[in-house]
Amino acid sequence: MPKQEYSTDYPLLIQQATGILDAEPWYTAAMSNLSALIAESMADLNWAGFYLIRSGQLVVGPFQGKPACIHIPIGKGVCGTAVLQDRIQVVPDVHAFPGHIACDSVSASEIVIPIHSGERVTAVLDIDSPVQDRFSAEDTQGLAGLVRLIEEKIRWEA
Ligand code: SME
Repeated sequence: MPKQEYSTDYPLLIQQATGILDAEPWYTAAMSNLSALIAESMADLNWAGFYLIRSGQLVVGPFQGKPACIHIPIGKGVCGTAVLQDRIQVVPDVHAFPGHIACDSVSASEIVIPIHSGERVTAVLDIDSPVQDRFSAEDTQGLAGLVRLIEEKIRWEA
């Protein structure tokens, strides 16, 4: 698929995410509706959701898309690399990323953003697209803002 110009309305996304988190900050409820919100708000995605650190590895959390890899070791794949480096990963071509974990063969590009509780990374936001180079600097900035909001408002305990 050829690359297009995408313009997600990030101020609206932040406003709607604030409503979701304020209504119920418990992470299972919040992440479920946030993954649905992202999938509805951004064009040309095939997966949007969360992986959470549990017993020293990433485990799949609430998401929208096809059933995905359940466990990802820290340091493996795009998600595990984001955790190990504690750094946002923007991958324009997943096939060129060494160790990329293909959960869905249509995925062509990906963005992964670490989520913190205090100083520690406790989860990641992972978004996949069937379009190469789908995620622009504007998307990185907008989604980093969404993750800051999540970090501020989410409640991790059961
Ligand atoms: N591609 C990810 C695995 C998760 S799926 O994209 C949902 C990775 O390499 O970590």
